Amino acid sequence: MTDLTQIDPSHRTGKKVRSLTRLIESDADLLSAQLKELRTRAFPPAAEKELRKFTSGEAAKLIGVTDAYIRQLSIAGDVPETEKNARGRRLFTLEQIHEVRRTLARTKPNYLPTRRAGDHLQVIAVTNFKGGSGKTTTAAHVAQYFAMRGFRTLAIDLDPQASLSALFGLQPEFDLQDNDTLYGAIRYDDQQRPLSDIIRTTYFAGLDIVPGNLELQEFEHDTPRVLAERRRGSDRMFFRASRRRWLQLKTDTTSSFSTAPRRSVS
Ligand SMILES: Nc1ncnc2c1ncn2[C@@H]1O[C@H](COP(=O)(O)OP(=O)(O)O)[C@@H](O)[C@H]1O
Ligand SMILES: [Mg+2]
Repeated sequence: MTDLTQIDPSHRTGKKVRSLTRLIESDADLLSAQLKELRTRAFPPAAEKELRKFTSGEAAKLIGVTDAYIRQLSIAGDVPETEKNARGRRLFTLEQIHEVRRTLARTKPNYLPTRRAGDHLQVIAVTNFKGGSGKTTTAAHVAQYFAMRGFRTLAIDLDPQASLSALFGLQPEFDLQDNDTLYGAIRYDDQQRPLSDIIRTTYFAGLDIVPGNLELQEFEHDTPRVLAERRRGSDRMFFRASRRRWLQLKTDTTSSFSTAPRRSVS
């Protein structure tokens, strides 16, 4: 950990401070360095989040069949080879559960949720003006629930604080570069990039994420300016680009009544 006593305190005395910007920059650098060290200690570089495995009883329940039916499929060789626990019981990964769904869907399509022609993308926005009211927790659980049920799900973190991204193991300070959040896909200038380039997979099979970080705040400054310049790019709304791929789209918003959260529910 960076030792605060080792840091030259002269920048606080005013003597060497050239400008307020310099002071803020040096404090930001110090904070970043400390955060980085904390993170390296808490999460070694090779650390990755991993979802636990599911017993065949749990897998059967998630798929909507009986445990006995899973055993029957297993004898018939219709269930993928899985890890076994100490008592010789099968342990399924979520991806393997999806694989069973795909096998069953060959004869009974209902086992694999999918959109039919004319079905709309389902968007669930979790929003509340109050901070600490459970928005991020709700968004994460709802997204995970649908992914476990076999829905292809995209979670979009619209909060610059990026707690949802952090829950999925992404540290906004270190794991993201410029233009790696939804801002990259909805910005108004020529640096806009396709949403498909920004989406990342998560450790939940079937659940993808568009991470957030502080740059989302830029959209709040750009929008009034662009509106004032009457260059409103309403045809660039990100939902247009993403409607085809997912069944469910979850968004986790910040507490303020800012532009990106309002657009997420529009
Ligand atoms: N149903 C709940 N019961 C108890 N604590 C909860 C519940 N939902 C959220 N929390 C806790 O409340 C705190 C704030 O939740 P969070 O989802 O981060 O809120 P928000 O995104 O609205 O700021 C977190 O510490 C979270 O673990
Ligand atoms: Mg939150």
